[in-house]
Amino acid sequence: MAVHHEPVLRKEVLESLQVHPGGTYVDGTVGLGGHSEALLEASAPDGFLYGFEWDAASLERARKRLARYAGRFKLFRANFAEAPSILKREGLQVDGIVLDLGLSSFLLEASGRGFSFLKDEPLDMRMDERATLKAKDLVNRLSYTQLVELLRAYGEEPAAERIARAIIEARKKKPLETTGELASLIESVVRKRRRGRHPATLTFQALRIAVNRELENLERFLSEAPEILKPGGRIAIISFHSLEDRLVKRAFRLDPRLEPITKKALKPSLEEIRRNPRARSARLRVAERCEP
Ligand SMILES: C[S@@+](CC[C@H](N)C(=O)[O-])C[C@H]1O[C@@H](n2cnc3c(N)ncnc32)[C@H](O)[C@@H]1O
Repeated sequence: MAVHHEPVLRKEVLESLQVHPGGTYVDGTVGLGGHSEALLEASAPDGFLYGFEWDAASLERARKRLARYAGRFKLFRANFAEAPSILKREGLQVDGIVLDLGLSSFLLEASGRGFSFLKDEPLDMRMDERATLKAKDLVNRLSYTQLVELLRAYGEEPAAERIARAIIEARKKKPLETTGELASLIESVVRKRRRGRHPATLTFQALRIAVNRELENLERFLSEAPEILKPGGRIAIISFHSLEDRLVKRAFRLDPRLEPITKKALKPSLEEIRRNPRARSARLRVAERCEP
């Protein structure tokens, strides 16, 4: 399947990280290797990249894409929340770190793991298949109150109660197994599209965040990443929804080890959004490691 290969905000990430030959960089969300490739290209001939990605299939694709830079990168199949401790163990400090949060086009369109409500696939949503908890476990096992809390906390879903009630009623007859079943159940109780969004958008976002513990991973990363940055080194984070962006903004503002570089989040140009509509909600924030 054809998937989009241009990394989001490529130019802005390279400029704000001040990527230079000989520099050492971390890509915490390698995905299909778009930002990794850009970092290796811009730090040629001798820059080095440490890449982290927890989805095995994405990592294999990225490895092939980066093959021509052999000897200049090391990839780990690991959660980026582990990256600071892994690199600290190797005694490393780096010049720049990028995180491009969320889903790749590969996970969304070709993984078969139920990330899209536009496809009928098993309700799985694990980005890391070594994890045991799937979306169907949450949908079929949480109580009404827990479902409402999940939809509010991770989806900011205004119809949380209505959706939770519908889930509880539906699963009395039979457990919900597929994205198609869940999406049409939500459509039957929330007909109106808000801001042109499919009624299941926020529920799918909430389940995905919970299954992958996305906010916990980001918080842990934010608290430990400054330790692996050289003084003057930079960290650039692209987020796709306000829950993530708020965490990043707060950490960059409050962490005494960091100085925010972007006063306001950078957004993709209209031209980039035209080429890659999925970039439209991307927000980039950058911070610099202060001198100790
Ligand atoms: C938006 S994509 C990155 C795309 C990449 N920048 C590129 O240009 O191809 C996000 C990727 O991060 C991975 N990911 C998300 N959270 C992660 C985590 N906590 N640890 C490791 N990888 C993670 C996802 O599996 C996905 O492949």
